[in-house]
Amino acid sequence: MKLASALGFAAVLGVASVPALAQEGDPAAGQQVFNQCRACHIVDAEAASRPTGPNLYGVVGSEIASREDYAERPGYSQAFQDKKAEGFVWTEENLKAYLADPRGYIQGGRMAFAGLRNDQQIVDVIAYIEQESQ
Ligand code: HEC
Repeated sequence: MKLASALGFAAVLGVASVPALAQEGDPAAGQQVFNQCRACHIVDAEAASRPTGPNLYGVVGSEIASREDYAERPGYSQAFQDKKAEGFVWTEENLKAYLADPRGYIQGGRMAFAGLRNDQQIVDVIAYIEQESQ
């Protein structure tokens, strides 16, 4: 009986979390947002990184600075390499904070991008990157 009521409680929690869907990312909207990133980034399993920025294929959930071709040339900033040495991972939370304020979040980072001010744009662009990484 105890287990059954615990499961019932979990089901209620599941229902209660539905309104949070408003903060779920929309990959189609994220594709538009990604137009602000395309000058420097691609999301492509097959292609090499551009010299302007690391290929973002599979970046969500990965260790920072893990694109080997980009690490070789032109190379990540020292700030990124230091984070890598600490074992920093691009969780969704970390990505959100970075995309809101790249240079504030990782000081000394080299990404010349002011940041996305709108939370919805941030979750949308993350959803797009995840979709393109399937
Ligand atoms: C002007 C070029 C430029 C633009 C525009 C840009 N980036 Fe970047 N991005 C970079 C560079 C360069 C780095 C590597 C930073 C370093 O080494 O400090 C980077 C790093 C990243 C990383 C970490 C990658 C890794 O391998 O750890 C993510 C994630 C990222 N950018 C996402 C984005 C997104 C999403 C956008 C658009 C909203 C964007 N960037 C816009 C140049 C850019």
